[in-house]
Amino acid sequence: MINILLLGSFSFILAKDLSFYHNLVENDVVSLADQAAACPKYVCKTPSISFSEDTCIYLDMPASTYYAQPCTESSLSCQSGPENNSTCKARPSIYSSGFPGEGCQTSADCAVEDYQGCVNSICQGAPENAACVYTWQCNPGLTCNTTTNTCTPQLKIGETGCTLLTDCVNNAACNITHNVGTCFELGSFEPHDFVSDCSLSNGVSGTSNLCSSWSCEVTNNAHFRCLDPVKSNQQLPVKCTATGSSGCASSKDEFSGIQVPGDCECGYNPEGDSYCALFPGDPQYQAFIKQSNKWFQSKGIFSCNTAARFHFLCMKTHWDSDNYNKYVYYNYLIEDYPLMQSSLSCVLDTMLEPYAEAKKSYNAGDDDSSDASHIKLLAAFALAFAAF
Ligand SMILES: *[C@@H]1O[C@H](CO)[C@@H](O)[C@H](O)[C@H]1NC(C)=O
Ligand SMILES: *[C@@H]1O[C@H](CO)[C@@H](O)[C@H](O)[C@H]1NC(C)=O
Ligand SMILES: *[C@@H]1O[C@H](CO)[C@@H](O)[C@H](O)[C@H]1NC(C)=O
Ligand SMILES: *[C@@H]1O[C@H](CO)[C@@H](O)[C@H](O)[C@H]1NC(C)=O
Repeated sequence: MINILLLGSFSFILAKDLSFYHNLVENDVVSLADQAAACPKYVCKTPSISFSEDTCIYLDMPASTYYAQPCTESSLSCQSGPENNSTCKARPSIYSSGFPGEGCQTSADCAVEDYQGCVNSICQGAPENAACVYTWQCNPGLTCNTTTNTCTPQLKIGETGCTLLTDCVNNAACNITHNVGTCFELGSFEPHDFVSDCSLSNGVSGTSNLCSSWSCEVTNNAHFRCLDPVKSNQQLPVKCTATGSSGCASSKDEFSGIQVPGDCECGYNPEGDSYCALFPGDPQYQAFIKQSNKWFQSKGIFSCNTAARFHFLCMKTHWDSDNYNKYVYYNYLIEDYPLMQSSLSCVLDTMLEPYAEAKKSYNAGDDDSSDASHIKLLAAFALAFAAF
């Protein structure tokens, strides 16, 4: 039904690419940000510009300026449209992935159709010993063993025989030594520990979901080692000029002596400024890692298909809404961090709508609890006064 990327031996990647783990459809608005040497400017629609009814972003090419006007209907979101305009279109369904264990409304939402489809609002997959080709076809707790092509239980922490992350239970990943793969708990390797895989995002460093800092480096003799969580080397947010994958450098890592290269990205601001992406040691990133660890340690993660353990939809299905909203908010906060600096709210609501929405849900959760505590406090006062 849907084309699903096979999540092989993937590891965490730095902020910019986090959306890879989730299959909520991100806003796909037209942007020159990735191509232009000088960054375009992003401002609100002015009264002198006339927009056709469904336009939300209009590019004035000669001026290299985007004009934004948020969609008014809440059922619509701003998506790339004809030419260089973006238009308000129906919001994509959140039930778009439908892996076994994920929430659904009808069987059409589910990726696997052969096994009962949507039952009690959860997508059903192939049971143990049933035939499979892909990991995402098997029920939670199982993986597709590609030797036998049957759904078999995922390996537990400490068990050997894995080659991929998806071979291990959902809170674990595979570390391979002398061709023997063993499942270890996610984030259980300390800085300076050796790890068998580090998805390098540049020549020197990358990410590993086994490292507690999520970051790792390649050593001189081509081994991989977990890093201390490196930080930005200036006060946040850091402006930059050399747009690209090595336009920013982290603070120096004391142990390895390296400065991790980071992305410099055009932001969605009125000045056409670029900003550096966050590093794992920065406070917002640390908050995201903390919230992720909470998910890894929750019961809910085991109700997800092994390839869907990091999906928003599975998290939403099996985690309480406060924790889920917090996770999504921090995810977008770090992923879109360079883009949102000094942005106008009309631009946030169009260009970075998933972030803007996540922020609202996250803040709404906070408001609810503080309102509730106010009410409790008032009630306590009322009782205290009634007593006199
Ligand atoms: C782009 O948007 C402008 C402003 O709304 C509109 O005048 C123009 O017709 C649009 N172009 C296309 C191809 O939709
Ligand atoms: C749309 O933008 C591209 C650059 O991204 C440009 O090459 C093209 O000419 C633009 N089209 C129109 C109709 O403005
Ligand atoms: C897959 O099945 C083969 C044959 O039974 C077994 O040797 C191997 O360990 C299994 N792999 C996993 C990841 O369970
Ligand atoms: C993980 O793998 C690396 C590389 O094979 C190895 O050096 C390291 O000791 C392994 N870690 C554990 C805890 O087995």
